[in-house]
Amino acid sequence: MKVQAINDGLGAIISDINLSTISNTDKQELNEALWKYKVISVVDQTLQQEDLEKVANIFGDFKFNSFFKVERKSSEQSYIFGGAWHADLSYLDNRPTYTMLYSAEVPEEGGDTLFADQSTCLEQFEPKFVEHLLTLKCKHLPKRYSFEEAVHSKGTKSYGAYEFFNREYSDEETQRIYKSESIFETISERSTEFDQKVLITHPHSNNLCLNVNPSYTKSILGMEEDESDKLLNLLFQAQIQNKYIYRLKWKNGMFTIWDNRQVLHKATYTHDSDYRLMFRYMAIDPSDAENCCYN
Ligand SMILES: [Fe+2]
Repeated sequence: MKVQAINDGLGAIISDINLSTISNTDKQELNEALWKYKVISVVDQTLQQEDLEKVANIFGDFKFNSFFKVERKSSEQSYIFGGAWHADLSYLDNRPTYTMLYSAEVPEEGGDTLFADQSTCLEQFEPKFVEHLLTLKCKHLPKRYSFEEAVHSKGTKSYGAYEFFNREYSDEETQRIYKSESIFETISERSTEFDQKVLITHPHSNNLCLNVNPSYTKSILGMEEDESDKLLNLLFQAQIQNKYIYRLKWKNGMFTIWDNRQVLHKATYTHDSDYRLMFRYMAIDPSDAENCCYN
């Protein structure tokens, strides 16, 4: 198994390994690489759906009902699901620790995924400010803004993990997005809101990580709305600066897994008419049962 680090240790490419016949030693090494590099991509894999479920169990408990076929065509151009910075389902009381994507078929260009390092981004803050953040808790909700607010904001306000652009939306598009409302409502009903730490300690790497994101973090507890918005906006700006970002380019047969405790992510455009087929899974790290690192 070969591990090739990217950038300053955010992201690694893993080769010379077959995930469907992996040994226990390699499983452990793979988990350690994930905690260290935060996003790892295993290349040259040929995996079927049943293999993917087993592969998910290398990293955590695949009890999360998370299988998702991600198929994207040119009609997706109007907006991108997952196109706003977020940590997956961070508002759920059984939030997923890891997300996995397997690329069965991807275009040569476009559709990159961006990752922002939520641990190293803290280096820009004074130690006193970090100490202050350690005392704070926040609330995550499925949507920060209403659909109307998001659309009228010309792309500055996200709608859950949807990113909007500076243009008019047709009635049909609006209807499609309204339909997604019912998905959000279902998810909201399923979720139990809980007060989360603004800074968490990663249970394996011991890194401190920022636990807010512009898609889902609604407020800081115990603050007036203005004060809370001001602090959150400062953190949102800080956490997605270019120097903390890794741009992953997909290839066919690539299996990527990231640690939602240590990175935010966002999807980017595919070109018109480019077909893309991926499979998404999520898992919960047993060390994260009952959200011990978030409470
Ligand atoms: Fe996502």
